[in-house]
Amino acid sequence: MNDPRPASLPPDDGSNRVDFSAPPTSHAGALHWLADMARLCTPQRVHWCDGSEDERAALTAEAVKTGILTALDQRRLPNCHYHRSHPSDVARVEERTFICTPTKDEAGPTNNWMEPAAMYERLRTLTSGAMRGRTMYVIPYLMGPAGSPLTKVGIEVTDSIYVVLSMRVMTRMGALAWKELGEHGQFSRGLHCMLTINPEQRYIAHFPHDNTVISTNSNYGGNVLLGKKCLALRLGSWLGNREGWLAEHMLIMGVESPEGEKTYVAAAFPSACGKTNFAMLIPPKRFNGWKIWTVGDDIAWMRPGADGKLYAINPENGYFGVAPGTNGLTNPMAMATIRNNTIYTNVALTPDGDVWWEGKDGTAPMSCLDWRGNAWTPRSETKAAHPNSRFCAPMSNNPSLAPEANDPAGVPISAIIFGGRRASTYPVVMQGFNWAHGVYLGATMGSEMTAAAAGTLGQVRRDPMAMLPFCGYHMGDYFGHWLDVGKKLAHPPRIFHVNWFRKGADGHFEWPGFGENMRVLKWIIDRCHGRAIGEETPLGWMPEPGGIDLAGMENYGEPEFAAAQRIDNDEWRHELELQSELFERLSSRMPKELVYERELLRSRLGL
Ligand code: OXD
Ligand code: MN
Repeated sequence: MNDPRPASLPPDDGSNRVDFSAPPTSHAGALHWLADMARLCTPQRVHWCDGSEDERAALTAEAVKTGILTALDQRRLPNCHYHRSHPSDVARVEERTFICTPTKDEAGPTNNWMEPAAMYERLRTLTSGAMRGRTMYVIPYLMGPAGSPLTKVGIEVTDSIYVVLSMRVMTRMGALAWKELGEHGQFSRGLHCMLTINPEQRYIAHFPHDNTVISTNSNYGGNVLLGKKCLALRLGSWLGNREGWLAEHMLIMGVESPEGEKTYVAAAFPSACGKTNFAMLIPPKRFNGWKIWTVGDDIAWMRPGADGKLYAINPENGYFGVAPGTNGLTNPMAMATIRNNTIYTNVALTPDGDVWWEGKDGTAPMSCLDWRGNAWTPRSETKAAHPNSRFCAPMSNNPSLAPEANDPAGVPISAIIFGGRRASTYPVVMQGFNWAHGVYLGATMGSEMTAAAAGTLGQVRRDPMAMLPFCGYHMGDYFGHWLDVGKKLAHPPRIFHVNWFRKGADGHFEWPGFGENMRVLKWIIDRCHGRAIGEETPLGWMPEPGGIDLAGMENYGEPEFAAAQRIDNDEWRHELELQSELFERLSSRMPKELVYERELLRSRLGL
């Protein structure tokens, strides 16, 4: 492995030494790197995070005292706090996110690239002295349950108390990570310096060959909680390609039938398209006795097991969910989850110490402070909560948390679901004919842009497997890796594509979504167990008429569902043209199998 230190550190003349006596680890590589980071950032002191409750209380008190957090009404929302990020720093910044591999080709055309030495040099200049007079927090953490063959150790160095408190929620943080690392283990390095939150100097830079991330000038979760998108997906996908596993932007759920049969499903939807809601779905009355268990709501690490099945863990320990639109109807489990020990960011703050967002239960407060801290009333023309405002809550709060979420062995996945937010073209549900066709369905996913990333809302963009912003290497190689993993599976999961967002000519949604998605899920589960008949169509297997249980739905029956499943050749002609753009962009490394799949689809459609 290359030396992951930023080039030309200041000389070690002893003047920048902070107290490294009695460190909680004896891992020589970790101590060496941490000493380098201290010498680079010149903090006044180092805080070794231990993940304890006392530490949480003390850091929270300090954050409240210094105005980083505001305590909410502690009777109604015990241990809940409020935070505002800088108005220029409210979402992931894809144009400032870099994959720094030795060659541009390795990062591929869908990533921003910079040559590693040049990026290290730029970041050295930026981070040099960045923690002067302040505290450097050292966060050891695990992505995944302790003892799992899939779990990875990370160390994040940060000058942000908000990051420490959030990482404590989102990862398994503290002493257990040093234990897992041992004397000689591998770890991912993460350096985060808030600096002045200057968007022009914001970098989310990944060095996959060095297992390193450096993040500057941001304090927004997706850019700075380095275990999440940076390690679990960008570095993770690169490591997965090398080590034979998959790091995916997927929820994991356990679907339990009234008879107690549990089937595990992983599903990829682009950011802010309802993954958290789906992962915590409550089945409608018709499905009394069915139960959804949440294993994870955002990220899945999956590897072939000795029995030929694909096993998945959720590497995270908490939920960093989008608040607007979350309410007792859309996601009662999330509402129960965020009642205590939760950090809210960029929602609105009410005068009585509560939080509010557009789409929360009840009426809007008569007055409150909006996400910028400005006075807001229901007559204001702006939103009270930022559309990408978030809650950060421990998964142990979730009443439907699957106990298997903490199982180092992971869960065997029977179905993989890909889904986009598409107003046209795609039916509510279809199943790929085989693994390669399923990979094609994932590779050609497209979606309308949401608020989770800075960009133009509503515009459709290709988002293969919901990984466009998160794949740490060439997307063509990534598709090839998916095909290879499939070859190692004697019992591969079935692959499906869903679209909850199809609209009719008059703009109404053709499928009601939310809890009713259980009806589609039931068909998917039955297909996995060989219990439901599929009808062969040019697009894939679809439910035969009557195949989806629509009983008890108001004003919705077979004709409505058939309309939502229709295949419109004009729409598909256009879709295939759009897909060509992606295929051409990736052509140098696009697996031939996927090119064949597209041609097969074209001929099945007669286009
Ligand atoms: C997220 C995202 O925060 O996908 O999960 O942006
Ligand atoms: Mn996500």
